[in-house]
Amino acid sequence: MELINALNHRRSIRHYHNIPIPSGVMSRLLKQALKAPSSSNVQPYRLAVASGDVRRAISDELCERYDRASSVSRMPLPLKLWHGVTGKVLPDGDYNPNVKYPKELHQRKFECGMGLYETLGIDREDYAARDRQMRRNFEFFGAPTVIFVYVHDKLGRYSALDAGIFLQSLMLAAVDEGLGTCTQAALAIWGGPVRERFEIEADYKLLCGVSIGYPAAHPVNEYQPARRDVADIQLRLRDQANRASA
Ligand SMILES: Cc1cc2nc3c(=O)[nH]c(=O)nc-3n(C[C@H](O)[C@H](O)[C@H](O)COP(=O)(O)O)c2cc1C
Repeated sequence: MELINALNHRRSIRHYHNIPIPSGVMSRLLKQALKAPSSSNVQPYRLAVASGDVRRAISDELCERYDRASSVSRMPLPLKLWHGVTGKVLPDGDYNPNVKYPKELHQRKFECGMGLYETLGIDREDYAARDRQMRRNFEFFGAPTVIFVYVHDKLGRYSALDAGIFLQSLMLAAVDEGLGTCTQAALAIWGGPVRERFEIEADYKLLCGVSIGYPAAHPVNEYQPARRDVADIQLRLRDQANRASA
């Protein structure tokens, strides 16, 4: 029952209290998350857990990169190219989280973003405010701790699957500790600031980040986009499809 409760109460938290997470709580949480299954039990993930000064320094560098990139994106093409080559603007992450969504999925992505802006009272044409909200990703939404998640590259997508299961376990265990989380692909755009500070084995590549801390009372933390109907994700037997089209 507690698990179902955690499942129902977990949502992405994008506003945190400035209260540190006691180290005992953090170790208990990680230990619980390690109960997650993984292919052949290899647990092919590594975590860079940043709090305090390290967290602040990484956030400052990521925000600086974000500010530079967003001002360059508004420049005419020749200047854009010049700054792209000479400045620390281009993504240096291991994977590209800025994938182009296929048409079939794009509408849901759009609705998810617009729902978030609406909750925050941001007009869809207010690009400056949208930009500020995007920047909040790199401030970790004010969370005292951020976890950068690395996966073994040689296992391909199966290490990402293992890491996903680990992360869901972490996020549910966090609810039980009164903590909130937000998994962020945005935190994989630039990898340099974390790689500079942590000893990361060469085969381990940055998949995403997770902001974690105590949720503040804020409308943004009430936002949760609607889920699909079960029938939407469940594939029909070929026979059923044939009968329906006959
Ligand atoms: C792999 C992954 C990447 C995500 N990246 C971001 C991100 O960069 N920024 C953000 O604000 N939310 C991010 N999210 C949160 C999703 O938007 C969120 O999980 C989804 O809209 C469902 O809402 P809920 O988590 O509140 O249930 C990400 C979630 C996942 C699982």
